[in-house]
Amino acid sequence: MLLYKSLIVISFLFLAVSLSHDQVEAYDVKAGPVRPMVKRDERRSLIETEYGRISAAKISGTDGTRRPYYLQFITLEPNSLFLPALLHSDMVFYVHTGRGRLSWADEDDIRTLDIRRGDVYRLQPGSVFYIESNLEQEREKLRIYAIFSNTEDDSYFEPVVGAYTSISDLILGFDRKVLQSAFKVSEDVIEELFNATRPRPIVHALPKKKKSLWAWEARFLKAFVGDRDALELEAMNGKKKKAKTYNILDADPDFKNCNGWSSTVDRKDLRLLKNSNIGIFMVNLTKGSMMGPHWNPMATEIAIVLHGQGMVRVVCPSTGKQSDCKNMRFKVEEGDAFAVPRFHPMAQMSFNNDSFVFVGFSTSTSTNYPQFLAGKRSVLQELDKQILSVSFNVSNTTINQLLARQEEYIILDCTSCAEEEESIMQEEIRREREEEEAREREKERKREEEARKRQEEEEARKREEEEARRREEEEERKRQEEEEEEARRREEEEKREQEEEERRREEARRQEEERQRREQEEEEEREREERREAEEEEREAWEKQQEKERRREEEAEREREREEEERQWDEGQQKEEGGEFVRAKVKISGDGNRMVLTNVLKL
Ligand SMILES: *[C@@H]1O[C@H](CO)[C@@H](O)[C@H](O)[C@H]1NC(C)=O
Ligand SMILES: *[C@@H]1O[C@H](CO)[C@@H](O)[C@H](O)[C@H]1NC(C)=O
Ligand SMILES: *[C@@H]1O[C@H](CO)[C@@H](O)[C@H](O)[C@H]1NC(C)=O
Ligand SMILES: *[C@@H]1O[C@H](CO)[C@@H](O)[C@H](O)[C@H]1NC(C)=O
Ligand SMILES: *[C@@H]1O[C@H](CO)[C@@H](O)[C@H](O)[C@H]1NC(C)=O
Repeated sequence: MLLYKSLIVISFLFLAVSLSHDQVEAYDVKAGPVRPMVKRDERRSLIETEYGRISAAKISGTDGTRRPYYLQFITLEPNSLFLPALLHSDMVFYVHTGRGRLSWADEDDIRTLDIRRGDVYRLQPGSVFYIESNLEQEREKLRIYAIFSNTEDDSYFEPVVGAYTSISDLILGFDRKVLQSAFKVSEDVIEELFNATRPRPIVHALPKKKKSLWAWEARFLKAFVGDRDALELEAMNGKKKKAKTYNILDADPDFKNCNGWSSTVDRKDLRLLKNSNIGIFMVNLTKGSMMGPHWNPMATEIAIVLHGQGMVRVVCPSTGKQSDCKNMRFKVEEGDAFAVPRFHPMAQMSFNNDSFVFVGFSTSTSTNYPQFLAGKRSVLQELDKQILSVSFNVSNTTINQLLARQEEYIILDCTSCAEEEESIMQEEIRREREEEEAREREKERKREEEARKRQEEEEARKREEEEARRREEEEERKRQEEEEEEARRREEEEKREQEEEERRREEARRQEEERQRREQEEEEEREREERREAEEEEREAWEKQQEKERRREEEAEREREREEEERQWDEGQQKEEGGEFVRAKVKISGDGNRMVLTNVLKL
């Protein structure tokens, strides 16, 4: 007790090594895929330090309707310490390898338990526990496989708060003031608690002996574990109560034959399992053997492979919806976990070259008697043969043969069964992959087809667009041509009109010219006429003048002649008077002709 209590104090006060985010994760329950089989490398790693690691797996039976079970795989390097934690649920564990010491406090006591390979134990909800690994010569790691369950809730683990919580997280969740009052310590102590870097959940082990404790450490623990223990502690006289463990490897197997053995640990074997709904079993199949086909009427089995490899065949009991529940076969190897729900007939097989060992937790609230199908202890032996023959629709001879031959039971010889199963599985996987590939190809083909269709549509669309564009261009061209034609026609028209105009103008001009010419001609004609007339007149005038002239000349001539005559007359008058009269006479007449006449008459 002293050690335990001092450890807690020390872990609070001196081991506050390093705060890390995986502190939180260590208690996380998210644990990777939830399937009936979880490979070792599919576990979710919660923490990993140089002193150890914790990984977790959620596992469910084939029917996805129920909540998964929660497993943890705790590995401590030699001489390491898993720091105190408050357990939230039932924890049943199996020690796979190594040695160490489990310490825990429950309501009334503080206990320790030396643990080693093959040990199984159960811790109850509400326990505060921590684990140390021994520093041994072989330096073997302490490996613990644990399942967590809630007793009151049919073994299903409530994941909200996680499986356990670090004690320091619990304490330091309070305010300083509250803690100071609760623990009655100085501010410095609390400050130091808060100031410290939080350690990761697994640390290096402590020096074994601690000589003395300060008074405040005692008070601290008093607050934590209660007065009675604290008083014991203060007396430095505490003695841990040793608990007894159960080693499944030491116990006599429930069943054993040359094909292997199986062992179960239940309430009868381990008092501690009382009130627990978890049982533990272990199976060792020698080479080429089989745990005969059987089902569990009450329990779901969650198994972890400890050694070797094996094939597990699970038959779906449901004849209804095939998609939800289907027959399975899987190969498992060391570290893998697999679950088989109740009523699912199963068979586990070892290969010809190695034994196949697995430990399992069976979860049930009442006693589970596995029901085997084949061999002497077959449930079928209990049934009426004739009814059986009707069930199978075969002859009762066939049924008799079916049930008579197998001398062995439970664990049977099954040479090359695992190999056969494996090849079937591989074949199935291959076929599935092929189908998957075929589906992929089909999908790809469809995709391609769609792509092609799209492309074709695209091309068609393009062609249409092209066509439309071409038509448009064509129309445009036609329109242009028409416009050009129109323009040309208009031009020609204009030209023609111009020409016409020109011609008209020309015509007009010509006519004008013609007119002018005519006018001119007429003018000229007129002028000519006029001139002619004028000339005529002139000539006439001239002629008249001439005539006149002539006449005047003639007159003058005649004058002269008359004058001559007169002169001559005068000359004669002078001789003959009378002449005067004649002359007067002529003068009065004035006219040549008459003058002439007169003259003539006178003559
Ligand atoms: C808290 O830590 C800081 C450094 O991390 C240090 O300076 C300080 O003194 C510490 N306080 C106490 C009360 O230990
Ligand atoms: C399982 O059985 C084989 C063969 O009988 C034996 O060699 C092996 O040690 C056994 N394993 C365990 C874990 O008991
Ligand atoms: C045993 O045989 C199985 C299947 O043939 C093979 O996968 C496995 O590796 C073998 N184990 C050993 C230890 O040789
Ligand atoms: C039993 O099998 C035979 C064929 O072997 C078939 O004709 C017959 O209908 C079956 N009986 C029932 C009840 O299905
Ligand atoms: C088989 O069943 C028939 C009835 O269907 C019965 O008459 C006969 O005796 C049975 N044979 C054996 C070998 O049990």
